[in-house]
Amino acid sequence: MPGKIAVVGSNMVDLITYVTRMPDKGETIEAPTFRIGCGGKGANQAVAAARLGADVMMVTKVGDDIFADNTLRNFADAGIDTRHVATVPGMPSGVAPIFVEPSGENSILIIKGANADLKPADVNRAAEDLKRCALIVLQLEVPLETVYHTIAFGARHGIPTLLNTAPAQPDLALDRITEATYLVPNESELALLTGLPVTTADEAEAAARVLIAKGIQTVIVTLGAKGALLVTGSEVRLIDAVAVTPVDTTGAGDAFIGSFARYLVESGDLDQALRMAVRYAADSITRPGTQTSYATAEAFADTLARMDGPASR
Ligand code: RIB
Ligand code: NA
Repeated sequence: MPGKIAVVGSNMVDLITYVTRMPDKGETIEAPTFRIGCGGKGANQAVAAARLGADVMMVTKVGDDIFADNTLRNFADAGIDTRHVATVPGMPSGVAPIFVEPSGENSILIIKGANADLKPADVNRAAEDLKRCALIVLQLEVPLETVYHTIAFGARHGIPTLLNTAPAQPDLALDRITEATYLVPNESELALLTGLPVTTADEAEAAARVLIAKGIQTVIVTLGAKGALLVTGSEVRLIDAVAVTPVDTTGAGDAFIGSFARYLVESGDLDQALRMAVRYAADSITRPGTQTSYATAEAFADTLARMDGPASR
């Protein structure tokens, strides 16, 4: 049985409006569809890994509202260990109004709610369980001090950490994340973090090398429709994307992280895990919603056979 994955991060309720176009200031227009779903980058990554069969524990905080009940039920349905999910009295849960355009592209607002209350002390309370995990996964929708603290905790106890630097966070201090084992930024996050331009694969590689020189072992730059770039001290490799028709790209980055974590923990094979992650994320954008678009292990096996089957070789 592969080791357990811990996600120390956010949960949100996604309020998704599918628009024909965004309204102008002062304008009222009608949108065809609205959906409510479970989201938040941390929870999305946890659910993606769990749906693919991983043993997952979530360290997060919910508010004391109806959204919280929904989120807790959702974690339970996904088989996620919720012993370290705490309720914050008097605080709302995190919510994310999301607008999806006909191209499948999205615009997201996040209101952190109880996620803003996830503190280093909460990580300490989960310490004994975290020490038994094979990987700790982090994002940037909880306080940065908590992220720094967890990376240091992982380094101290020999537990690998993966930091997904989303959403872009101008205050993120590079010097406090150099002990992360895996850093996974997208192009704009990488540019923000290094102060370097990142518009081509070559520029992404140069910027990733700056992070490697700072001590981060493995950098994976997600390149959207261009795939992903792996940069370590000894290797540079481009993992090609697979072409799909986008319906809703919301949560595709999280699908990538969650599935990568799951396959990495199982095999330790970076290249194989990345190959799977690119495919899992691509598959998720062919369906609406965030977590609702994440395939189960069984459905994903069928998709893989279609994407990579004998006919396409
Ligand atoms: O990455 C997508 C997620 O970002 C959404 O689920 C939303 O909740 C925001 O956290
Ligand atoms: Na989707």
